[in-house]
Amino acid sequence: MFDRWMLKNIILVGFMGTGKSTIGRQLSKALGYPLIDTDAYIVGQEKRPIPEIFEENGEEHFRNLETNLLKSLTISNCHKQIIATGGGLIKRAENRSLLRELGFVVWLVATPETILERTSRNRDRPLLQTANPGETIALMLAEREPLYREAAHLILETSNLSFSEIKTGIIESARYHYGSQ
Ligand code: S3P
Repeated sequence: MFDRWMLKNIILVGFMGTGKSTIGRQLSKALGYPLIDTDAYIVGQEKRPIPEIFEENGEEHFRNLETNLLKSLTISNCHKQIIATGGGLIKRAENRSLLRELGFVVWLVATPETILERTSRNRDRPLLQTANPGETIALMLAEREPLYREAAHLILETSNLSFSEIKTGIIESARYHYGSQ
């Protein structure tokens, strides 16, 4: 059967610690679509971890790598992929339009408390290595929320949902979105 909605990608955006990579893996398994994790892709390409990229070349360089990756996915007409993005990828207006061109964009939302709890487990997020990460998260969320909102086709509040419920909700919403165009 020809399933028109399946021809596009599903893209996960959201703040650090909102479960994009975990949900991405689950969607990938459920739909049989390959997963592209933008952070993992960049780390593989650069052959060094994210804190090192930030330290040696700065955030702007990292953002350029993110934009380059989105452009190459768009040019190659990539489809039937799950794309889990780094939390700050939506900062550039250019990236927000590239994401919407690439497919169905889902914004995963979690509470600041959940984000703090999850992100304090390791030190691999250079932007949260501050004296008061809780305050940093609140400030960054306030700045970024309108940008996630602008990029998203679907906003999913994840706090009271299981991973399985989140996965099913995304698949049904994507089907509805493409089926109803
Ligand atoms: C960042 C989020 C990180 C990573 C980098 C910058 C951000 O990805 O891309 O540390 O600016 O929010 P995750 O959202 O996967 O943690």
